[in-house]
Formats: sequence, C-alpha cells, structure tokens
Amino acid sequence: MDDRIELLKGDITKHEVDAIVNAANRTLLGGGGVDGAIHRAAGPKLLEECRPLGGCPTGDARITMGYDLPAKYVIHTPGPVWRGGSSGEAQLLASCYKRSLELAVSHDCRTIAFPAISCGVYGYPLDEAATIAVREIKAFLEGDRQLEKVYLVCFGDETFRAYERTLGKKE
Ligand code: AR6
Repeated sequence: MDDRIELLKGDITKHEVDAIVNAANRTLLGGGGVDGAIHRAAGPKLLEECRPLGGCPTGDARITMGYDLPAKYVIHTPGPVWRGGSSGEAQLLASCYKRSLELAVSHDCRTIAFPAISCGVYGYPLDEAATIAVREIKAFLEGDRQLEKVYLVCFGDETFRAYERTLGKKE
C-alpha cells in the first residue's frame, strides 16, 4: 500500500489541500451532489471561470481556481453514468482519476482530495468504483514523486467501507 493514499470522512469542501476534485457533469456549469456543494462553497466566481471553458468530455478534466474554498484549485471531471458496465464506464472512470492527477502535478500541487466520482447520481457501484480509483491512483503514484498525499474523501460510511475493503486487499 502506498502510504500517500489516505481515507477521510466528511465534506470535501472543508479540506485544506492544494486541489479538490469535483465530480462534475459535461457542462461544467454546476449541479447537485458534491458539484453543488463545491460551487456553493467556492462562490459565484467559480461559475464565472467555468462558463467560458465550454464544457468537458466524460473522462477528461479541467482546472480552475478554488476562490472561497480552502483549496487553491478545483479540478472538474465528469465521470461516466453507470449503464450496466459494458459502455466503457471502467475506462472512463479510470481516465477521470488519471487526468485529474496529471493536472494536479502540472499545477505544482502536492496534496489532492477526490470524492467518489460517479458514485452518487451517476450510479456507479461503489466497490467497483473504489477498486478503479485505488488502482489508478497507485499506478500514478508509482511514477510520481511530487504528490505527497492523495485523500479519498468519503461522504458516507458506505463509501468509507468500500474503500477500506479495496485498500485491505492484497496487492
Ligand atoms: N463531499 C464529499 N463527497 C460528497 C459531497 C461532499 N460535500 N457531497 C456528495 N458527495 P455525486 P456523481 C459524494 O452525485 O455520481 C451532479 O449533479 C456522494 O455521496 O455528487 O459523479 C453533477 O453536476 C457520492 O459518493 O456525483 C453531475 O450532474 C460522490 O460524492 C452528477 O451529479 C459523488 O456523488 C455527477 O454524479
């Protein structure tokens, strides 16, 4: 286990990290869930910066400032909607984690916090999503020495337990 990966419970908007990741939609114009919470906590300037970006494809990511958040940056990544698993969901979800980590490193971040992308409204099964998240983050960290901590922020106990199961598995 890479000791740079850490599980946390709570609200991602409260975390003092260089970047928090937003489980966005392709418009990048806000929504419910963690997206709504991030926009509320960051203030209206976040939407102002997002609007001219013109959206983002599923599996890719865009970076903005964090404004009123304790985090310096927000990395917005639209995850896949779960459609049963045979519509490329796993590859798209993996790409969300990879692209977000790449953007964080290219902006000199040392700490980053992820929510459980696609595990709310988008319906991705928790255990499968947790496995992909941990696998991608570990693979990335193997080739990176800049990031000091990658936090997986769990909004509920169910999410926390899914990550615990994944992290507890033998490598
Ligand atoms: N901090 C950390 N995690 C949170 C928070 C929070 N404040 N709030 C919710 N979560 P979701 P998705 C968890 O639905 O499935 C939006 O409308 C939540 O419990 O926010 O990727 C977007 O605009 C779940 O585990 O994102 C899109 O349209 C995880 O965050 C759509 O929802 C993701 O749940 C994206 O759906």
